[in-house]
This record gives sequence, structure tokens and C-alpha cells, in this order.
Amino acid sequence: MPPVERRPDTDDSPAGGRPAPSADWWRDAVFYQVYVRSFADGNGDGVGDLIGIRSRLGHLAELGVDALWITPFYPSPMADHGYDVADPRDVEPVFGDLAEFDALLAEAHALGIRVTIDLVPNHTSDHHEWFQAALAAGPGSAERARYLFRDGRGAEPPNNWPSVFGGPAWTRVPDGQWYLHIFAPEQPDLDFTNPEVIADLEETMRFWLDRGVDGFRIDVAHGMAKPDGLPDMVPMEDTGLLDDHGPGDKRFDQDGVHAVHRRIRSVLDQYPGTMAVGEVWVSDDARLAQYVREDELQLAFNFKLLTADWSAEALRPAITHSLAAVARTPAPACWVLSNHDRPRHVTRYGGGELGLRRARAAALLQLALPGAVYVYNGDELGMPDVDLPDEALQDPIWERSGHAERGRDAGRVPVPWSGTGPSYGFSSSPATWLPMPEGWGGLTVEAQAADPSSMQSLYRAALALRRSAKAFGGEELEWLPAPDGCLAFRRPDGLVCLVNMSAAAVPLPEGRVLLASAPVGEGLLPADSAVWLTA
Ligand code: NOJ
Repeated sequence: MPPVERRPDTDDSPAGGRPAPSADWWRDAVFYQVYVRSFADGNGDGVGDLIGIRSRLGHLAELGVDALWITPFYPSPMADHGYDVADPRDVEPVFGDLAEFDALLAEAHALGIRVTIDLVPNHTSDHHEWFQAALAAGPGSAERARYLFRDGRGAEPPNNWPSVFGGPAWTRVPDGQWYLHIFAPEQPDLDFTNPEVIADLEETMRFWLDRGVDGFRIDVAHGMAKPDGLPDMVPMEDTGLLDDHGPGDKRFDQDGVHAVHRRIRSVLDQYPGTMAVGEVWVSDDARLAQYVREDELQLAFNFKLLTADWSAEALRPAITHSLAAVARTPAPACWVLSNHDRPRHVTRYGGGELGLRRARAAALLQLALPGAVYVYNGDELGMPDVDLPDEALQDPIWERSGHAERGRDAGRVPVPWSGTGPSYGFSSSPATWLPMPEGWGGLTVEAQAADPSSMQSLYRAALALRRSAKAFGGEELEWLPAPDGCLAFRRPDGLVCLVNMSAAAVPLPEGRVLLASAPVGEGLLPADSAVWLTA
């Protein structure tokens, strides 16, 4: 099937109900991450799904996002909530079917919202037909050569690599061989030196591109290539989180991974206007830059904002490094405050009223920066992490760590839409896949829509300005002098952003206030707040 025609000849608005034509629309786009299980449940089983997303597209259009990133919705036994893919070219029945996906895509496009989806190249599910065939075929077979099966060292695994989710990265099968899984044992790693593996990835990409998707978020984009001989690495405990452990960690950021990205890019280049963003946990600026070379990814998440504390000392270098990493590449920076793998930033910044206040300021900081932005579902409501009871925990990290690490469920609780008690309009059932707490009536989309001072109103206003105000033009950033504990910068077309992370109010700079995260009176910006100004 030839690539579908996208990017009709319209102006900037979604005239004709279809996205605008620009080939590099993603450079300053606001992407909204839909964690599919938790966004909206359309069929009442307590788990989010594609019909749910479709029914809430109006909210996303009103919010003003440019594109979605939908997390994996492919057939999966859900050992890692969809990141264990049993068939990358179909839809998990819990989430819907292909016709439902096509309808969602068409409706999103009609609203001017682009749709990007997760691509999970590094591993499959252990239920994938390839892995089942590999188990059946035995050592030395072509079926095993799609994965990383090896003999052990006596009774020990082939090397000392740990799994990101705890325990060894190797599991032994009944005939004595071991297979590599950087994540859960239900997620066997593929061998990208096998031409069949990359060919299959390309087929998956074309399958979705032919249906009309606008691009991909590439899972573990710094994985895929493993060093020859699979040597031992610097011994380390894993934290239950993807992170950058530096060059001693042989599981990630191997030079061979770039050949895979070049193949991915060559497919995308056949579908004008499509893109890929990589989940690249690489903190060295020069190493990160390699992923966004001319013939590789268009964007790479820079996780420095996601991992920085709420202080000028932490956030300023986070920003300068993120900009330095892309400075000599064709890519813009790509900013992330929260995602489904890390504690939500309201909670990271102290939780409660303080966390919310800081998160409001952080939103203005993130949205003032030049480049692409990712907003995690619920960021726009100021959702915090939830203290879940032990028996509710579902993340494989909880079991794999012997209950030492609670995992990522706290930040994955379903989004509250309306009403005053669970499940707050998320589902027609009160029983949701992760329980929703009491007391969230004020957090719902409905309640916040009626409140001009809500987090959601702030996001709507900020996204509207970001989209329309001339002051946001240009990809440069000039640091301005700022009081202690504050950051101030100017964009080329005039936007000034001042963020006050000190304990006291500071004077407002010259200019007309466009938007502030807290009331600015008497020429002062209060502590833990941010303001946008223009000349
Ligand atoms: C990164 C994803 O964001 C995370 O949720 C998942 O567990 C791992 N990759 C493994 O696919």
C-alpha cells in the first residue's frame, strides 16, 4: 500500500478538520502522553481503552495539544502493561481493535491533532510467536537466533548483567540455555544483528504508517545493540528505573544502536511529515547528540528536567545541557517533566499545595523553553502520585524486587474526569485497574474547567499563548540576570520567562505580563511561581 497522503494544504488552523501541512511540525509541538490504561475507559471494565481516548479527544483539542503519544495498545499478556508486545501489528482486545484505532486516528486528525504511537523494538513478549518458536526449536536454531540465547558459565548465567526490574537479566530454559531480558523475564531481548529482526521492525512501522500515524515514540531507543561477546559490566544494583549508569553499563548506548536508528529513519523518510522521538537515557551531551544526527531520530527525550530538583542550581544546568546536547544537531530540544515511569512532578516538588504551586511554575518554565514538549496525562490537572496499598500494586518491579521497590504504579492512577467519587467519570465502573482515592472531586477535568485559577485553566491559557503569540518564535534562549534562586531567560522574539525558586518574592522584570502561575501584584513575583512577559 502506498503511504497515505497527509498534510493537506491548509493554513495553521485545523481548517478542513485536518492537520496543517508543515513537514517539521514536531519541532515546537506540544505532545500529550496518553497512558492508555489510565486515560479514559470507554467500555466499563475499569481499564482505559481506545474508545475512551476517542471520547475525550474534545478535551485534548480544548487543552490545545498538537499531538498524542499513545503508549502500547498491542496484544500483550501485560507483564509490563503493554511493553511486552505479543503482536506489534494488532490491537489488544482489552483496548479495542484495529477499526477502533482507525476511527480514533481519523477523529484526532479531524480535530487537528496528530497521533504518534509507541514502538517497542528492543524486546517482545514471551508470548510472541517468535519466542514460542525459539523455545520449541532448541539451541542453535534459526528461531533462537532472533533472540539472545546463550550457554551459561557452569550453573551461572552467561554474564553479570542485572535486569532493570531487579534480579539477573538472564533466565534459564529447560534445555539449559539462558536468554537475555534487560527488563522482565517476560520481555526477551531481540538480536538486532539478525536481519530478520530489523526487517520485522520495518514491517511494523509501515503497518502503522500506512494506516496514517504521524510517528513513533521509540521505547528504550538506547538499547537494541549489545556489545560483541556480551562481556560482564561494572557490577551495579538496579534501581527499578531506567537511568543512565554511565559507560560501565554495557546494556545500553552501544555504538551499534545508531545503525538501527538509521534504518528507522529511512522508513520514516518515505512518509513525509512523520517523525520519531527516542527514549534515550543517556545524560552525556555528546553521546545524546549522536541519536539526533541528520539521518537518525528527529527528537530525543532529554530527561534532565524530569530528574532535576526544584532549585535554580539544578534546573539551570538541566536546561543548558539539554540545549547544548542538540546545539550542533538538526534537532530541537525535547522537554519532559513527568512520564509513566517516574514519580509525578507535583509529588517530586514536595506534594500538597507546595508541590502544586511549584508544578504550576514548572509548567510555565517547560512551555517557555524552545523545542518540543511532552505533557503526561494528568500533568494538566496537577495530579500527584497516590499512596497505593500493597495489594493494589501491579508493576513487575514490586514482585521482582522482592517488595523492596514499590515500582511505578503511584504515577499511573487513572485520570479523574468528573463527579465527586471513584471513578470520577474515568469509567462507568467504580473499580478501576488501580484504585482512585477519595477526595479527588476538585481535581477533575469538570471541576477545573469551571475554575479560572485551576491548573487546567493555566495549561489551556499557556498552550493558547504558546501557539499564537509571536513572542514564542525562534529556537534560541538568552539567559538574563536574575535574583538568587531564580531563572530568567528571553526567546528571540521577545518572550521573557522568570521563575522564582527562592523563598521570597522578587521584583518583576520590565514588560507586559502575558501569564503568571500565581497572582503578581505590586510588581512582585511570589516564591515558587513563574511569569511570562513580553515587551
Ligand atoms: C520504557 C518504558 O517507558 C517502560 O514503561 C517500560 O517498562 C520499559 N521501557 C520496557 O519496555
